[in-house]
Amino acid sequence: MPITGIYGPEDFDSRPQGQTTSPRVPPRTAAPLPMPSLQWTADVERATAPLYERVKHVIPPIEWPLMAPTIKAINELKRARGAVILAHNYQAPEIFHCVADIGGDSLQLAVEATKVKADVIVQCGVHFMAETSKLLNPDKTVLIPDSRAGCSLAASITGADVRLLREKFPGVPVVAYVNTSAEVKAEVDICCTSSNAVQVVESLNAPSVIFLPDRYLATYVASKTDVKIIAWKGACEVHERFTGEELRSLRDGDPSVQIIAHPECPPDVLAEADFTGSTAHMINWVRERRPRRLVMITECSMADNVRAELPDVEMLRPCNLCPHMKRITLANILDSLLTLGEEVTIDPALAVRARRSVERMINLKN
Ligand code: 13P
Ligand code: SF4
Repeated sequence: MPITGIYGPEDFDSRPQGQTTSPRVPPRTAAPLPMPSLQWTADVERATAPLYERVKHVIPPIEWPLMAPTIKAINELKRARGAVILAHNYQAPEIFHCVADIGGDSLQLAVEATKVKADVIVQCGVHFMAETSKLLNPDKTVLIPDSRAGCSLAASITGADVRLLREKFPGVPVVAYVNTSAEVKAEVDICCTSSNAVQVVESLNAPSVIFLPDRYLATYVASKTDVKIIAWKGACEVHERFTGEELRSLRDGDPSVQIIAHPECPPDVLAEADFTGSTAHMINWVRERRPRRLVMITECSMADNVRAELPDVEMLRPCNLCPHMKRITLANILDSLLTLGEEVTIDPALAVRARRSVERMINLKN
């Protein structure tokens, strides 16, 4: 059914200003390690040859000598620091395939974060993902190579907005997409990702649910359930730019092309797609179907990461870059491991409440 109502900051006159993030706690200090040599040598070439095999279909040989010394240094420093690298599916192939220990979608990264034994987690993704790892693993040092890696969805809503929504709809449970700050997670009943959003909404056994902050994911969920959905006006700046019209013209050019899309896209885009799913569900779909020609309506690096693994699948553009995901680079991952910066911290009282919402999602039975 269509979503029942859609709200935004302008609907709340008394909305407090400037409360978007949790308070900053000073990072703990650590002795920086010396900068390793970043020369391209025969030794670097030999040591990184197996890694180049993984990405040779998407990284030209002329570019590899520029990346390989940093990749080798990062992999050595991970051991020295007792660190693991978690990388989202939108990270560039040289990160996703060459330095990450664990890759996946938001749900997989959250679940994997609960199992990490290492002392240090380097989150190659955006800030809300690093916060989720910290919530689930409060005793670990969680680092993000660039803390400015935000998300238009997470920036669209504050904890105060959630409190105002609760006042407007007393007794209606609140589901937050994980693409939110810890401050927002602390105010909601349960979190969800794009992998499990419908399941989470239905698990509440309520006639109506407030679903925030993505209006398009809310619309997608509403189309799959009888639960009445009250939405927030947020949108992903990457996925909202796709249009149904560009997909129709691609199909006109080649009716055999397969189109798969992320549920953060607008409804006219999803109406043109052969499959809609989270980033992990999209990757599994490609692994199983092996289409000859494919369009992935999502962030560009995901198509590169899939093509590195399945070079027989021809990827057609369009795709859009996420400027926040692209803040993470080999250079700042190296820097992060050398200096143990930038550490992600969450106010402990707020973390207790935010953790509850994420754990409630993770503990849901399939
Ligand atoms: P997934 O949970 O599907 O990986 O999506 C996260 C995200 O930020 C998509 O834009
Ligand atoms: Fe946020 Fe969109 Fe970037 Fe995902 S792709 S991190 S939802 S801005």
